[in-house]
Amino acid sequence: MIHRLVSIGVRASIILVGLGLFGGFAFAQRNGPARTPPMGWNSWNHFACKVTEADVRAAADAIVSSGVRSAGYIYANIDDCWQGKRDGQGVIHPNEKFPDMKGLSDYVHAKGLKLGIYSSPGPKTCAGYEGSLGHEELDAQTYARWGIDYLKYDYCSFQGDVPAPMAAYKKMHEALEKTGRPIVFSLCQYGMDRVWGWGPSVGGNLWRTTGDISDNYDRMAYIGFGQNGLERFAGPGHWNDPDMLEVGNGKMNKDEDLTHMSLWCLLAAPLLAGNDLSKMTPETLAILTNPEAIAVDQDPLGVQGHRVAQEGQLEVWVKPLADGSKAVGLFNRGESVMPVTAYFRDVGVGDEALIRDLWEKRDLGVHHSSFTAQVPSHGVVMIKVKP
Ligand code: GLA
Repeated sequence: MIHRLVSIGVRASIILVGLGLFGGFAFAQRNGPARTPPMGWNSWNHFACKVTEADVRAAADAIVSSGVRSAGYIYANIDDCWQGKRDGQGVIHPNEKFPDMKGLSDYVHAKGLKLGIYSSPGPKTCAGYEGSLGHEELDAQTYARWGIDYLKYDYCSFQGDVPAPMAAYKKMHEALEKTGRPIVFSLCQYGMDRVWGWGPSVGGNLWRTTGDISDNYDRMAYIGFGQNGLERFAGPGHWNDPDMLEVGNGKMNKDEDLTHMSLWCLLAAPLLAGNDLSKMTPETLAILTNPEAIAVDQDPLGVQGHRVAQEGQLEVWVKPLADGSKAVGLFNRGESVMPVTAYFRDVGVGDEALIRDLWEKRDLGVHHSSFTAQVPSHGVVMIKVKP
């Protein structure tokens, strides 16, 4: 008995030392928001550098009026190109496109939303605007004064090999913590240096795992299906980020947008809409707001899904859910309609299970040992499998 207690004690101290070395998990978790993957909107994919304060206000209006907010999207995030000059004290000011940052933040907050902003650990942002290098504390204080709730910190012009980027991200994390304001910290350095291994230790709530997405099936699929294997690095408070959504930006067809949304939900990815919310079609709205898909993404278990079967262009992905059921994506990356089968032994359920189609929102009854669906080219059938 004593021997067992000693051995438990030794194991407990090893775990505690481990946690101490990895103090970052404590950081990421103390930064309370992002217990589930952040949901909101970001200006970059549609507006890029042309974004103005008026666009962000219009996005906030649309998030509320279209019902996107009730679906769970709460962040309105300004990406690059808002920055102006620093004054004599080093304080950053917005440029003429953002005349009143505090006013914008009050406006966004009055709508029950949260405001995000963007900077770089380097001297310049990716679009060549003022970065935060050497001004981290001052910038964090400025963001907190404006009422900012989310910071995307984009590598861009930062120079140096690991551990320099880790130190740079940690520096900003500590500056944000010092403000006392909970600010989601989004690391963006394109998956370099296996960021998923150290992201939590520098306070990251999410980190980009790849280069930029574009509104194109091949690029979206390359990024999304390429996430397999990273699942063990994600969890409540610290998420892999395969980049923002392109749903509704116009270059992907409905099946491709459905694949994009389904895959991101199965991946427990942050859901940051990247389209012009003030001008979206009912089809785009339905894809972005399907409560059954979003429930998969936001499931409290916080487990990222992974691929369990692949046959040529056909793939089956599974995400375990808190209620003991599994969300399953049957994907067809090929050029013509194909039957795709999910075998229950791959899904991890017994021989008999209830199937519900999450896009059709329809129960498909009890199935035995497998489920097969005809899946359109570049399309998906997403189901919930309940043992
Ligand atoms: C990088 C990022 C993008 C976007 C642009 C802005 O490319 O990966 O998401 O923020 O910078 O310049």
